[in-house]
Amino acid sequence: MLRLRTATDPTWIDVVLNDFDAFLIDHAACERKASATALKLVSHYSDRTVLVRELIPFAQEELDHYAQVMEIILDRGLSTQADEKDPYVGALMQLIKRGPEQYFLDRLLVLGIVEARGCERFGLVAEGLEPGPLKDFYIDITRSEARHHGLFVRLAREYFPPERVEQRLDELLESEAQIVARLPLRPAVH
Ligand SMILES: [Fe+2]
Ligand SMILES: [Fe+2]
Repeated sequence: MLRLRTATDPTWIDVVLNDFDAFLIDHAACERKASATALKLVSHYSDRTVLVRELIPFAQEELDHYAQVMEIILDRGLSTQADEKDPYVGALMQLIKRGPEQYFLDRLLVLGIVEARGCERFGLVAEGLEPGPLKDFYIDITRSEARHHGLFVRLAREYFPPERVEQRLDELLESEAQIVARLPLRPAVH
């Protein structure tokens, strides 16, 4: 688990289980945004062939997750609403520095951290749910998400020296822990 500096507050799962419909709607939006962001990177960095090769299947997998969560949402008779701003992702995006190369590195590492935190929390959902199809679904999602944070760190190492990646990752992980500590707990992935 990408050395996240803090574990999620153990009461977060109660907040989620108390309003699981809201959690599902937010989860669907996260999957869709992950897919769309990956495609944005593919188009922006189309000359970086390793990135293109890795992020197209990643975008497909996240889109597949989106379709699966939407199926659950529609089966429950829920409808999605317009996306709300995600305060966690918004705060992480503020950490991204300017300058084309630094921006590229930060973007990859922030995406890796978002994936790592998501994976940790899907695992908590899988643990917290009663046995049944929904629990099985979150066990599968956690397994599949567990590969994602490593992908972004690997891409960062592909394009930047390992020491630079490590140092920046440490800084960003430290800031992420502070962000998590100050944000309220919501029935949402972050
Ligand atoms: Fe996903
Ligand atoms: Fe993911």
